[in-house]
Amino acid sequence: MIAPALADQTVAVFGGSSGIGLATAQAAHALGANVTIASRSAIRLREAANAIGGAETAALDIRDADAVRRFFEQRHPFDHIVVSAAELAVGPLRKRSLADERAAMDSKFWGAVHVAHAARIRPGGSLTLVSGMIGVRPTGGATMLSAINAAIDALAKALATEMAPIRINCVSPGRIETAWWDFLPAADRQALFDRTAAALPLKRIGRAEEVAAQIVHLMQNGFMTGSVVLVDGGGSVA
Ligand SMILES: NC(=O)c1ccc[n+]([C@@H]2O[C@H](COP(=O)([O-])OP(=O)(O)OC[C@H]3O[C@@H](n4cnc5c(N)ncnc54)[C@H](OP(=O)(O)O)[C@@H]3O)[C@@H](O)[C@H]2O)c1
Repeated sequence: MIAPALADQTVAVFGGSSGIGLATAQAAHALGANVTIASRSAIRLREAANAIGGAETAALDIRDADAVRRFFEQRHPFDHIVVSAAELAVGPLRKRSLADERAAMDSKFWGAVHVAHAARIRPGGSLTLVSGMIGVRPTGGATMLSAINAAIDALAKALATEMAPIRINCVSPGRIETAWWDFLPAADRQALFDRTAAALPLKRIGRAEEVAAQIVHLMQNGFMTGSVVLVDGGGSVA
């Protein structure tokens, strides 16, 4: 019998209770990994662990560097770590408060930095960050998020040199249908998805599972480090 690709490997997913993180945890579990998911809401973590079919859970806020450090101190080193956690509202820079823009940076960029700073990863292992396609093709509708995503792309490349031979990569999604968009009323959300799909070469928006498949591939491909992989339906070239 062929062993599952991630048999007996340990995988930690920050932001593993929803969307891209949850899909990644499910894919890794299906390939035989022992999965730990970390995010803020214990209730959502429990529901996600059930959906995965078994996972350790850790309720923590990725903005809290001490909590992230304790998470790693209390556990054995992991084979693979993924950072998909972020909570941020977006809009044109000049229409939002600087406090809100700093909060976005704290959540998405500094959260990833906290994990990179404290992570304990086994030889042969990997860290995968999640940025976003508007980091390479900015729109005026989410200026700060474009800057944050570009910073995360650069962070992954720099860490790949600093932390070698541990492999560090980044996945950069285009628009993906996840709970992240639930802040919009249903009709507005559907209209946005339809507009996005019409402008894309593939004429549809993405699914969390499609991003997760790439993240799991980066865990397994031992010759990939310092890569930023777009999973965007062609959005960056449209
Ligand atoms: N969906 C898209 O269209 C899209 C496009 C490009 C890039 N991305 C990026 O992909 C990543 C994942 O997005 P998603 O769509 O999967 O979002 P999602 O469905 O909203 O999931 C976000 C996850 O992060 C956790 N989280 C949020 N803030 C946290 C914090 N401070 N500490 C710990 N956990 C936290 C959430 O759980 P709790 O709320 O319980 O903490 C949840 O598990 C984000 O970086 C997002 O910017 C998404």
